[in-house]
Amino acid sequence: MKGTKPFPPLKNDNLLRAARGEVVDRVPVWVMRQAGRYLPEFQELRKQHDFFTVCRTPELACEVTMQPLRRFDLDASIIFSDILVIPQALGCTVEMHAGVGPVLPQPITTPEDLKRLTVDGALSRLSYVGEAITMMRYKLDGRVPLIGFSGAPWTLMGYMVEGGGSKTLSKAKDWIKNYPDDTKLFLNLLTDVVIDYLEMQVKAGAQMLQIFESSAEHLTKEEFLIWAVPYLRRIRDELVDRLTKKVIPVVPITLFAKGAGHSLKEQSELGYDVISLDWTVDPTEARAQVGPNITLQGNLDPQDMYRDPEELRTLATEMVHKFGKSRYIANLGHGITPQTPITSMEILVEAVHKAL
Ligand code: CP3
Repeated sequence: MKGTKPFPPLKNDNLLRAARGEVVDRVPVWVMRQAGRYLPEFQELRKQHDFFTVCRTPELACEVTMQPLRRFDLDASIIFSDILVIPQALGCTVEMHAGVGPVLPQPITTPEDLKRLTVDGALSRLSYVGEAITMMRYKLDGRVPLIGFSGAPWTLMGYMVEGGGSKTLSKAKDWIKNYPDDTKLFLNLLTDVVIDYLEMQVKAGAQMLQIFESSAEHLTKEEFLIWAVPYLRRIRDELVDRLTKKVIPVVPITLFAKGAGHSLKEQSELGYDVISLDWTVDPTEARAQVGPNITLQGNLDPQDMYRDPEELRTLATEMVHKFGKSRYIANLGHGITPQTPITSMEILVEAVHKAL
C-alpha cells in the first residue's frame, strides 16, 4: 500500500496461477476451515480467548491463521475470521456457543427490524479484519497467497433472520413468501456492505477472495436464481468495477455456493474466476457445465477424512486425476470437521501434490 513497506514477494503462487488458468508447478491445495478445532493448538488458544476476541485481535487472528501452515505444506492461507462479523458490524449481537454454533439473540424477525441495522459506519467497524490481513501479509513473508472472504447475502440473511444456524431456513423462506420486496431490500443492503468489505480486504492485502453462499443448499434452483444469483452477480461486477476505477489490481474471486450443483452453468456466467464445488458434484460433469475457462475448486467429502490412510490417499489421488492439473485447486467439498485426524490432512496434502 502507498506510503507503507511493500509486501514480501510471493514465493509460491500456484494458487493464483491456477485461478488465472496459468501453468502450475503442482496442484495447489488448501482446506476450508483449515484453522480450526481439529488442531490442538487452536483448541488451546480458544481456551484462553473467546471466538470473536480471536477474530478482533489481529495478533491472535494471525497466530491462528498461521497454525495450519506450520504443520502442513499448504498452498494458501485464509484469514481467520467469520462470515458473521458483518451482522455484528450492522449492530446484531452474535454469540458463539460451544457445541451449538452461532447464536443471534435478537433476530431480524420482520421488515420493521431492518431499521435496527446500522449501515452507517459498518465498514469502519470491520477495520480489524483489514488490520489482520495486512499484518498477515508480512508474517507470511510471501510463503503462500492470503485469501480474504465474506458470506454472501442470502447466507447472511439466513443467520440474521433465523437467529443462528437452521436445518430448514424456514423463517428466511417465510420472508421470501411474505415480504418479497423487503427481502430484496435486505439482500441489497447486505450486498452493499459485502462489496465495501471485500474492497477493503483487497486494499489491506488480500490476494484472492472467496464468497461463501453456504446456505444455497436450502433453495430450489428457481429460488437460487432469484434470491442468490442477482446479488452474487452484483458483488463481483461492482467490486471489479470499483477496483478497476481506482487502479487497484483485481484479485481472483471464488464462489462457493454449497448445494447449488444444479446451477453450475448459471454460476459460470457470473464472472467469477473459480467455482468451488461441494462433494455431491461430479468433477467431469462440473467441467462440462462450466466450460474450459473457469477454475474448479473442491471437492472431497469432508467425511472421507475419517477413512483409513490408504483409502483416503486413493480417493484424493482419484479426485485430482478427475479434475486434472489445469484450472484446478484441490480442497474439501465443505469445511473440515472438528474430529478429523491430523494425519488425514498430511495425507490429503501429500496425495494431491504427488497425484500428477
Ligand atoms: O477457513 C478458515 O480457516 C477461516 C476461518 C473461517 C471460520 N468460519 C472460522 C470458524 C471461515 C472461512 C468461516 C466461514 C463461515 N462461518 C461460514 C461459511 C463456511 C461454511 O462452513 O459454510 C459459515 C456458515 C460460518 C458461520 C459459523 N461460524 C458457523 C455455522 C459456526 C459453527 C460451526 C461449527 O462447526 O460449530 C461458526 C464457528 C466457527 N467459525 C469456528 C471456526 C474455527 C468454530 C468455533 C469455535 O472455535 O468455537
